[in-house]
Amino acid sequence: MFDKMPDLRIVIFAGKGGLGKTTSSASLSYKLSTLGKRVLCFSTDPQASLSDIFERNLFGKGEIEITRNLYVLEIDADKKIHEYVESIRRKIKDMYKIDEIPREVEDYIESAVAEPAMYESAVYDAMVDVVAEGRYDYYIFDMPPFGHGIRMVAMADILSRWIDKIFEARREALELEAAAARLKGEKLLEYEDQMMKELEYVRDRILSFSRLISDDKRTAFIMVLIPERMAILDTEKAIEMFKELGLRMRGVVINQVYPPWLLDDPRAPDYLKKRIVTQKPYIREIVERFRDLIVAVIPMQSREPKGLEAIKFIGDELWNSSIDISVLEALGGR
Ligand SMILES: Nc1ncnc2c1ncn2[C@@H]1O[C@H](COP(=O)(O)OP(=O)(O)OP(=O)(O)O)[C@@H](O)[C@H]1O
Ligand SMILES: [Mg+2]
Repeated sequence: MFDKMPDLRIVIFAGKGGLGKTTSSASLSYKLSTLGKRVLCFSTDPQASLSDIFERNLFGKGEIEITRNLYVLEIDADKKIHEYVESIRRKIKDMYKIDEIPREVEDYIESAVAEPAMYESAVYDAMVDVVAEGRYDYYIFDMPPFGHGIRMVAMADILSRWIDKIFEARREALELEAAAARLKGEKLLEYEDQMMKELEYVRDRILSFSRLISDDKRTAFIMVLIPERMAILDTEKAIEMFKELGLRMRGVVINQVYPPWLLDDPRAPDYLKKRIVTQKPYIREIVERFRDLIVAVIPMQSREPKGLEAIKFIGDELWNSSIDISVLEALGGR
């Protein structure tokens, strides 16, 4: 599928926890880099799962080149929030020329830090930053578990509208002030003007990012699921929520599929065969419900895919999408 999207710049893997978002992100990133594309694989997972899969400590260390063309950025969101809050504290102290922040204000700051929106805003900001810099051919975003991913997308919209409101309000106020200043023969304070510019800059950045992620030629949202009831239901829910946000789920990846040919292998243990049989009706259901969305089927590996060798295999599966519906239907027992 990916090779049929010439304008594609961003791939965002979403889905319920623990089904294979990070594995898919790392694998697709690696695949693209081997095709000569400059790729940034980005994550905000506090568990440092990209460090784990690339077998290197990348957490909070900025953009690191793993192999030729493949860069990984694993954001330490807590640290970012901390730095941001520190800068606010400094500004307050400078502004009021005080050494210590009053208790009530400190309480307020602390409760703001605990807000989940704060975490998302930090993460989101980092995403906007890397894309705005435009130094890569592809950006692959490994999302935190499902709920967050969706909210983050929704936030782009809310945030840009919110900034628009502030912007409008400030512009009107500024026009009045400017008129008043002219009457008195004064010039408008420079910092007022600067603030407007700052606001305009932030808004434009968010707007262009939100335009980018809602443009389905340039951005593909891919849901990772496994052949299990809960994952199927969650995927359906996600597709609905995306629709409500005016976004399209571009595809689904079916991960952790037990190789069905083992059913005919006399050496395969019974418990394995049972797992294959258990997955069958769910595979059938996935084909029925998401037929046009299926991008790839990734077999269950005998061990956790870690390291370049292991993710190379999965990257090839994701890229080539050799499966066609008839193979899947056979898997589903038709
Ligand atoms: N096809 C597979 N075969 C075997 N193990 C797999 C496969 N895909 C993923 N795993 C393993 O399953 C676990 C979860 O995968 P992964 O970390 O990619 O999921 P995730 O969606 O990113 O999870 P989270 O929501 O916690 O970030 C990992 O230990 C991973 O190595
Ligand atoms: Mg993950």
